[in-house]
Amino acid sequence: MKVERSVEKAGFYHYYPVVPVVVAVKAGDQLDALTCAWYTALSFDPPLFGVAIAPKRYSYQLLKKSGEFTANFLTFDNVGIIATVGRTSGKEVDKFSAYRIKTLPSTVIKTPVLKDAYAAYECRIVKQYKTGDHVFIVGEVLAVHYKGNAFDKKDKMPDLKSVTPALYLGADNYIAIKSFGQIRMGKEDILKRGGPRRKKGQKTE
Ligand SMILES: Cc1cc2nc3c(=O)[nH]c(=O)nc-3n(C[C@H](O)[C@H](O)[C@H](O)COP(=O)(O)O)c2cc1C
Repeated sequence: MKVERSVEKAGFYHYYPVVPVVVAVKAGDQLDALTCAWYTALSFDPPLFGVAIAPKRYSYQLLKKSGEFTANFLTFDNVGIIATVGRTSGKEVDKFSAYRIKTLPSTVIKTPVLKDAYAAYECRIVKQYKTGDHVFIVGEVLAVHYKGNAFDKKDKMPDLKSVTPALYLGADNYIAIKSFGQIRMGKEDILKRGGPRRKKGQKTE
């Protein structure tokens, strides 16, 4: 293993690939979207979803006014939307009309969801934290949109026979998620395989 103390030299992308999310925001009659790779789910109850957005982004100016956003997940077929939205600014272009990005109305908030999304969250901003050169925006998920066949009915996980999510590899490269082998490793599966188990009262060394 190499060790490098400078993140600049080592790069700061070792956690890629990730499924990028397209964050849409509408303030008044202005609609914009940006692509984000820096995001995470934060809580089940209440359902919270956070995204790190640089304040210099045009969409951040709209987010401050609107207090809400939608988070949209797209398939590899729609990699064009992900890349375009992530490499152009609302300061210069109305992305939705210029790139003909279709929307559908949300049910609780005013910001629409993307028609091509296989899943999308309607979020109202509940907290914001300044984290270095980004602002971490925490949204409460008020509604979930999803294509019925995109998720396994029982386990709610993406069904890769029906959807091919886009993955961001870094440096403007994208890959398709295809399953070349899937394995379930729940607690019961692990126990069935045996493995070391602590005996009652056994102390750790
Ligand atoms: C794959 C990808 C991931 C990105 N992730 C983020 C991110 O997590 N946070 C962020 O602020 N910008 C991120 N960006 C950059 C913005 O999407 C980009 O600057 C966009 O043009 C901003 O648009 P706006 O000025 O209209 O808001 C990412 C771009 C790409 C292509």
